[in-house]
Amino acid sequence: MQTEKLAIHGGPKAKTTPNYPMYPGGMEIGEEEKQQVLEVLDRKYLFRYYGPEQYPSKVRELEIQFAAKVGAKYALAVNSCTSALITALVACGIGPGDEVIVPGYTFFASCAAIVAAKAIPVIVEVDETLTIDVDDIERKITPATKAILPVHMRGVPCDIDRIMALAHKHNLKVIEDVAQAMGGTYKGKSLGTFGDCGCYSFQYHKIITAGEGGMVVTNDERLYDRCMGYHDTAACWRPDRFAGQRYEGELFCGVNYRMSELTGAVMLAQLGKLDALVGGMRLNQQRIAGQIKDIPGIRLRPLNDAHGDVGVCLMFYLDDAQKVQPFAEALQAEGVPAAGVFNSGIPDWHIYAHWKHVIEKKTPTPEGCPWSCPYHQGEPVEYSVDMNPQTLDTLSRVIHLDIPPQMSLEDCDMIAHGIRKVAAVLA
Ligand SMILES: Cc1ncc(COP(=O)(O)O)c(C=O)c1O
Repeated sequence: MQTEKLAIHGGPKAKTTPNYPMYPGGMEIGEEEKQQVLEVLDRKYLFRYYGPEQYPSKVRELEIQFAAKVGAKYALAVNSCTSALITALVACGIGPGDEVIVPGYTFFASCAAIVAAKAIPVIVEVDETLTIDVDDIERKITPATKAILPVHMRGVPCDIDRIMALAHKHNLKVIEDVAQAMGGTYKGKSLGTFGDCGCYSFQYHKIITAGEGGMVVTNDERLYDRCMGYHDTAACWRPDRFAGQRYEGELFCGVNYRMSELTGAVMLAQLGKLDALVGGMRLNQQRIAGQIKDIPGIRLRPLNDAHGDVGVCLMFYLDDAQKVQPFAEALQAEGVPAAGVFNSGIPDWHIYAHWKHVIEKKTPTPEGCPWSCPYHQGEPVEYSVDMNPQTLDTLSRVIHLDIPPQMSLEDCDMIAHGIRKVAAVLA
């Protein structure tokens, strides 16, 4: 078969149309968001609690719609996913001396949230799905382990049935990080609704957005109550704000992670756009995947449940890490904005090997908590850049391509053509 001359060698580009930025919801901000925000401004009441009775709080409306959307009993809006994770951990009773298992491929915030909750992160391998490796979770459980924090990374579900079985066996809490997979499912059930709590992000680079924002969901009334208590130390949420505690563990000092009515208003409009955004990303991703899946030398990222992938990206493996950089550069020359994922020389806070502050156990005060916590039983938890070699090896063989929902089918076909062209020469 004759190969086409690559753009990097002076041939014509495969993709000649402009590329969209990967701001799925952000790119769709329009009349619906303006209308919602103007309603709040016209009310002249921007706080979620104690509002004039004729106006239902936008944040409360969002929580009700969000809970219904994902099929959870309770949803609590907060100001970021980081704060959602900390809130969920604290509500679950995680604290000094506890170990929490987290994957080595996730945004650093998943790990930082564990430290903020005063617990010790134990960073484990991911497998070829690029989500947490359940066998490695099992190997890393100790008597101090209290929770697992699986991350539905880059749009796809973890092996959540096995994670939940393991959690039940060892009596561990599960806090799902759904920041990158809003709208995703596993066996038809929404991500974030399997564990004790699920946490979502509305930061600008996420699927739906208000610039910043987050949500915690749970089916457990007590956990919901404790999440409320932590996220709003002013106790505005309590039926009787100044009453004594109704049960042991209800009242404690929290923080202020409340969501503003302006954020709630934008998110109400964005939530209404979620299905169309996910539908667009899935259509585009499948259009490209269908045209490249049989190319020799390329292997699509395996998935725990292909139907549950929200389609934010397309990832595929080459058989040799050395091929990744030239392959990515050739694709970029074709007009396809693909990239490799792991390069030890390029900082990236999605990969544990770059989490210098954790590896070196940096803390804001010299006592060294949580790592020096006297409540921690057993061996000290240690870290090193090469402690999870499977994760680094896997990430060094993968190519990543964002899938904006705004792309046309013609854009997708040009991308697939570019990948086929490059693979014929460099795979
Ligand atoms: C997997 C994951 N978890 C948590 C977060 C933190 O989200 P936020 O910026 O809303 O705090 C992010 C954000 O990038 C993320 O990608």
